[in-house]
Amino acid sequence: MMKQFANIAETKAAIGSLIYEGMTIGFVPTMGALHDGHLTLIRRAKLENDMVVCSIFVNPTQFNNKDDLFKYPRNIANDARMLEANGCGILFAPEVAEMYPNGEKELLNLKFGKLDKVMEGKFRPGHFQGVATIVNKLFEIVKPVKAYFGKKDFQQLAIIREMVKQLNSKVEIVGCETVREPDGFAMSSRNMQLTIAERQLAPIIFKVLQQVKQKAGVRPVKDLKSWAIRQFGQHPELRVEYFEICHRDSLMPLDNWRSKDQAVALVAVFIGDVRLIDNLELFS
Ligand code: PAJ
Repeated sequence: MMKQFANIAETKAAIGSLIYEGMTIGFVPTMGALHDGHLTLIRRAKLENDMVVCSIFVNPTQFNNKDDLFKYPRNIANDARMLEANGCGILFAPEVAEMYPNGEKELLNLKFGKLDKVMEGKFRPGHFQGVATIVNKLFEIVKPVKAYFGKKDFQQLAIIREMVKQLNSKVEIVGCETVREPDGFAMSSRNMQLTIAERQLAPIIFKVLQQVKQKAGVRPVKDLKSWAIRQFGQHPELRVEYFEICHRDSLMPLDNWRSKDQAVALVAVFIGDVRLIDNLELFS
C-alpha cells in the first residue's frame, strides 16, 4: 500500500527509517494532474531504486500569473491511484502553509547567470527561483539518491543541475525523454485546458520541431529560426512567444552550426489562452 503524507515531520520520519534500513530513495517531484509523462518517471525511478517517493505540490512561488495558479488542474485522489498502480511507495502532498510557513517571500537566492534570463526565465520572471526554492526544500525532506526530471521542461532540468552543483548536493539528477501523444503533442497537465478545436492544432508544435531537425545544419540558424516562426504564423490561433536554437548545456542561442551536436530547439506557443512549451535536440 502506498503511504500518503501532508506533513513534513511525518514524511521525514517515514523516509528516515527506510534509509536507516539501507533502502535507496528515488524521487519524482510533480505538481499533480498526472499523465503518462509523470508516470514514466515514476516507473523509471521504481526500476532504479528500492523506494519511490513522489510529491504533489502546486508551488505558488513559481507562478508569475495568479490566474494560471488558480486554473492549474488539481485531482489528487485520481493521482494517488495512478501513483500506487505505477509503483510509488510514498506520496508527499503538503498544503502551501506547510512548505512556506514564513510566507512566500522567502526564496532561495541562487545566481543562475544567463540560464534564468532567457526563454522561460525571460517570459516568466522569478519562475526559476520559485522552482529552485521548492525543489531544494523537497530534496531536504526526501533525501533522495536520485531525482527524476523530464526533458519536456528542458530549461528547468538545466536549472536543477546548476542548483545541485552550486549547493554541492549529492542528489543525482536523471533527465528523462519527453513522452508524447501518438500525434506527437508533448504530454502536459495544461493540455486538458485546450478546447477540442485548439487540441486539433496542437500537433503542429512537434511537426515544426521535427522539420527544423531535418533542416538543421544546412540552412543558417537565423533563417531556420525565422522559417519556424513563419510556420506557426500561418495559424492565427497560435502565438509564438519564443523560438530559439540553443546550446543544450548553456542554453545560449547559437548563431552558427559549429557546435551543432549540442543544438536544441525550444519553443513556447500560446494556443488560445493556453501556454505550451516543447523542445527537440537536433542532432541526437
Ligand atoms: P510538473 O509540470 O508536474 O512536472 C513534473 C515532472 O514531470 C517534471 O520533471 C517534468 O519535466 C516532467 N514531465 C512533464 N511532462 C512530461 C512529459 N510529457 N514527458 C516527460 N516528462 C514530463 O515541473 C514541475 O511539475 C514543477 O516545476 C516541479 C519540478 C514539480 C517544481 O514545482
